[in-house]
Amino acid sequence: MTVAPTRIAVLHGPNLNLLGEREPAVYGHTTLADIDAMLHGVAESLGATVECAQLNAEGAMIDAIHGWRGGRISGAIVNAGAYTHTSLALRDALVGVAIPFVEVHLSNIYAREPERRHSMLAASAVGVVCGFGAASYEYGLRALITHLVSPR
Ligand code: DQA
Repeated sequence: MTVAPTRIAVLHGPNLNLLGEREPAVYGHTTLADIDAMLHGVAESLGATVECAQLNAEGAMIDAIHGWRGGRISGAIVNAGAYTHTSLALRDALVGVAIPFVEVHLSNIYAREPERRHSMLAASAVGVVCGFGAASYEYGLRALITHLVSPR
């Protein structure tokens, strides 16, 4: 019997398409294409696959999350950008599909402006990785795959 490889959805939220040119002192010089390529490589090395999407609109992100249903996606990496701090609707979508996710951020949101220090999503996540630049995604992916193999 062949076992289907773990398939992870990676969801990047608003303005993350501008990575590389957007506030490099905060977010670094790595582009979103670089991050996605790195994630594909890390996933492959762990026997998993990733599918990556970047969406600027909150409703489009919710539709994408709904599309993870049906057993195709085992877990998700979510950087919801500024919607992290505001969107109860995104949290409802993530909880609604009941797919384990890790919240990631390039910057350390807890060391930034007060309005960025609260996440609407964190309490529903398996865990949160922030502050390591593009490596936050790699650490998040490795942690998620470990969690999926042996949940706490
Ligand atoms: C971010 C942090 C958010 O506060 C911000 O709105 C972003 C990027 C990060 O990855 O550090 O767009 O999610």
